[in-house]
Amino acid sequence: YSLKPFNTFGVEQSCISLIEVHSKEELQSNCLSLYQSKRPMLVLGGGSNIVFTDDFNGTVVRILTKGISCSEDDTYFYLAVEAGENWHELVQFSLNQNMPGLENLALIPGTVGAAPIQNIGAYGVELCDICDWVEYLDLESGDLLRIAVGECEFAYRESIFKGRLRDRVVITAVGLRLPKAWQPKLSYGPLQSFTAETVTPREIFDRVCEVRSEKLPNPELLGNAGSFFKNPIVSAATYIQLAARFPSIVGYAQPNGEVKLAAGWLIEHAGLKGFTLGNAGVHAKQALVLVNLGHATGQDICRLALHVIARVNEVFGVKLEAEPRIMGLTGETSLDV
Ligand code: EPU
Repeated sequence: YSLKPFNTFGVEQSCISLIEVHSKEELQSNCLSLYQSKRPMLVLGGGSNIVFTDDFNGTVVRILTKGISCSEDDTYFYLAVEAGENWHELVQFSLNQNMPGLENLALIPGTVGAAPIQNIGAYGVELCDICDWVEYLDLESGDLLRIAVGECEFAYRESIFKGRLRDRVVITAVGLRLPKAWQPKLSYGPLQSFTAETVTPREIFDRVCEVRSEKLPNPELLGNAGSFFKNPIVSAATYIQLAARFPSIVGYAQPNGEVKLAAGWLIEHAGLKGFTLGNAGVHAKQALVLVNLGHATGQDICRLALHVIARVNEVFGVKLEAEPRIMGLTGETSLDV
């Protein structure tokens, strides 16, 4: 089975078998029996955060479970959402139901079940800010468990699902909790021109969609996986040294005093914006995004990523880390394939 339609990089690789699950029962029975068979298994949401560097020598499970249920109390709206729902459609649904709070997270590709894994975030909001709980199938015990947001070990592009629970669980549903006393989140650059007292959720949604569509290539036209690198976090001392040498460097102070650097700025100022290697390129409008210029292999993309990491390290002494998962023949691997 070709995996090309199921990864937004549009890389041509295949897998031995492909299963699509439409209900939680199907999801449980298929994933448990595959896990017990000890053959390679890969659970795929939207395929928007993955690079295939080889054919996958096992079974790919596509999660297509659907359903959104809403409830409320005096303070919050609650949404319980099945893993296979599309994230952006959920954002639109919640706004149409007059349940604001997800507008900053508009147009993020991928599924709801994938959202907690890397704690998706954009324009000043992260999933952990509005998440209530995550339900998952524990592949070891076969149990369906629910953990509260506080147990998910959420951090910038991190969670327990990338850590201790990696490869052991399949996320089946996500609970969101949206305060009825809506507060706009306008800290992020392009949203700062709004006035908190008058702005509507819809205006924020529209602005986020506009900015994203300008900078981030549409995967249908140019294969990509959004930001390819995490924004690296450095100590205050390192930041001060860098800022002295590179006065226009972009960094955001973190609550603990460390500074998150804009990797896109580093890549651009290492002279790599628009750089190409084989059939892979650094996007000309947003250097944090690597793109498939047509028929790129996962290897092309990894080779380019390694080149970017090496150059940025040479120029700034900062080590970038890839954000997407790199998938090899039997499972997760690293860039240097
Ligand atoms: N910049 C450059 N050159 C570039 C790209 C960016 O100088 O080529 C500078 C910009 O001028 C800006 C700063 O870097 O001052 C930050 O850029 P931007 O606002 O585009 O955001 P980002 O840091 O590149 C992050 C997330 C995005 C998210 C945006 C908005 C990560 C790895 N990426 O990107 O998430 O949409 O902020 O909040 O944290 C994703 O993860 O796939 C993703 C798109």
